[in-house]
Amino acid sequence: MAPQLQLGDLPPAAIPNSAEVYPAVRPGVAAQGAEVYRSLGCNQCHTRQVRQDALLFGARLTETGTNGVNLELPGSGKTNFVNFDLLIALAKVRTDLAIAPIALPSGLAGDTNVAPKFAQFGANLALLKRSDDKSGIARPTTGPSVNELAARRPAEVLAQVGPDAAERAVKLLGDAGAKAELVIYNLGPDMDRGWGARRSVARDFLNDSPVLLGSVRVGPDLASIGTRAPEKFAAPWKFASTNTATELEQHLLVHLYDARLLAKGSTCPSAKYLFDAQKPEVRYAGEPLTLPGKDAPVFPKHNARALVAFLLTQRTDVGLPEAPTPAVAAPAAPAAPTAPAKP
Ligand code: HEC
Repeated sequence: MAPQLQLGDLPPAAIPNSAEVYPAVRPGVAAQGAEVYRSLGCNQCHTRQVRQDALLFGARLTETGTNGVNLELPGSGKTNFVNFDLLIALAKVRTDLAIAPIALPSGLAGDTNVAPKFAQFGANLALLKRSDDKSGIARPTTGPSVNELAARRPAEVLAQVGPDAAERAVKLLGDAGAKAELVIYNLGPDMDRGWGARRSVARDFLNDSPVLLGSVRVGPDLASIGTRAPEKFAAPWKFASTNTATELEQHLLVHLYDARLLAKGSTCPSAKYLFDAQKPEVRYAGEPLTLPGKDAPVFPKHNARALVAFLLTQRTDVGLPEAPTPAVAAPAAPAAPTAPAKP
């Protein structure tokens, strides 16, 4: 009764900017594969739930904005774009950084465009200094400065902080005419192993009946096996969404045939009975499978393809409100895109 009350009304989530929902109903073959997974007892050694210890946030500066002046920095011969408002905003966010002084080049003292901006910058710096003093902030005078941070793009302005601090930073940088985005950090050993981009939640299992979470991890978690990149098949397993389905499919078929062909000494049981040694006499026999180090190919039976089709639907890379992923968090950031240049 309790699971029914908790999950019974849970709807699939709409995927932003698309007509699709998550989780999608599995295609027929993959649905059959779920049954094969169950019948072969894969869940005796594999879990399908990624765990997460913490969710933290950060702010990333992506664009400097247009509100500033081009300055040829003395001696360097290089022209730098300086957004004064951004420097002040960064200084408010990062009280551990110095503010490197910028002097008005003597040649520009009479420039009616540049000189007032310098004056304004000086006034804002004085205000900042006063509020620093009031809150007891002792800023270093040497060392890494906000100027260096502003010159880097993208720059990690804040990393692994609470949501309030990150949102404040994104807002301050946006108000300064720059572009910043909210960064999400899903943290925990499972993420470090590359088993998924985020934790598994109830919604991931809406189309499963019965839900085979598994409780023993003799082998790696398979919740996001459908997102592992081909070049990173070897442990440590890395999350990536760059895999091509066919490469991953081949890889998983070989793994099913004999895991020892891919991982020496693997204890994952082989399912050679899901393959024919000879091309079967049926019309739709499918493509032969080349095995590494072997001359003769084998022919996956329907159940082998179905099981792999099921594994390929296992992906926790879609962000959900209750379990966001980095990719989904970005557009939600309330960054002001192009604030009009202040006089
Ligand atoms: C006796 C325990 C056991 C059972 C049962 C088992 N596995 Fe495994 N599995 C392992 C171990 C251990 C590994 C890690 C070594 C390796 O990669 O081969 C593994 C690895 C895997 C991998 C590779 C994961 C990766 O990240 O590369 C896949 C895929 C997999 N198993 C699928 C299955 C499927 C499908 C079944 C059911 C047919 C199954 N396993 C049954 C123990 C098991």
